[in-house]
Amino acid sequence: MELIDLRPEYLETYLCCLEDYSDEIKEGQAHKRRWYEAMKDKGLRVKLAVSDGKAVGMIQYVPIELAFAEGRDLYFVHCVWVHAHKDKGAGDQRKRGIGKALLTAAEEDARALGAKGLAVWGVPFPFFIPAAWFKKRGYKKADRNGIMILLWKAFASDAAVPRWIKAQEKPGKIKGKVAVDAFVHGWCPAMNMCFERAKRAAAELGQAVEFRPVETLDRGVYLSRGISDGLYIDGKAVRTGPPPSYDKIKRKIAKKIKK
Ligand SMILES: CC(C)(COP(=O)(O)OP(=O)(O)OC[C@H]1O[C@@H](n2cnc3c(N)ncnc32)[C@H](O)[C@@H]1OP(=O)(O)O)[C@@H](O)C(=O)NCCC(=O)NCCS
Repeated sequence: MELIDLRPEYLETYLCCLEDYSDEIKEGQAHKRRWYEAMKDKGLRVKLAVSDGKAVGMIQYVPIELAFAEGRDLYFVHCVWVHAHKDKGAGDQRKRGIGKALLTAAEEDARALGAKGLAVWGVPFPFFIPAAWFKKRGYKKADRNGIMILLWKAFASDAAVPRWIKAQEKPGKIKGKVAVDAFVHGWCPAMNMCFERAKRAAAELGQAVEFRPVETLDRGVYLSRGISDGLYIDGKAVRTGPPPSYDKIKRKIAKKIKK
């Protein structure tokens, strides 16, 4: 296994989270491409773990000023991902030290770029990206918003603690229609897919639904709402991790129409 910076021959694989065998994940790929194009000259860093010519893991991080957390002079890891699906693509590659190697490489890179620390996020349970996994690697909790725990590792004594940016204005209801508010930033193929599914379901259900897309890649739009990615039906947040299927989203909207 070797660690490399993203190279053109791996771009398409990277844009779909190493799942280039999945048509579903490609559904939202245009959002990721747009995000990548906007970020690649603004400090986005991508490292891949490659084994036998196959990308088996990735880590992507940006200057925190471009991310959905508040901070200064830090890099923010949007995600670290070691291919986990058995019998598909690169197979289950977890627990072989790949995640650790990617995180260490990102730390070294961020230090070399002059950052004062690295911020990451994780969840308080032992799957997806466990906050505990980062804690074991020396990260400290900085903030929490629901199940999203913000952690960080300082490289300098004057590094400032990062914080989550909180929602400013939650979506509301619309008289006589079911409101479907979908926020999409672009960095996460799963969230992009969820956005596209909601758009399709809303269109399918017709006049009774109003679909209100919010593209948060525009920093001004994002800061005015404080929501990077998310789906709300009549003002109520829908759980998007793991992304609900198209049928599930459609059922949820249809249920509201019936009410
Ligand atoms: C979390 C993840 C990055 C870890 O990478 P990995 O290659 O499987 O892990 P590694 O082999 O490098 O690390 C193993 C270490 O982590 C520890 N570890 C494993 N699971 C853990 C958990 N749930 N909590 C705490 N520590 C854990 C092991 O004890 C081991 O520690 P040690 O080195 O001190 O013995 C990986 O499992 C993953 O990608 N999971 C899915 C993440 C995901 O869904 N990402 C997409 C979100 S956008």
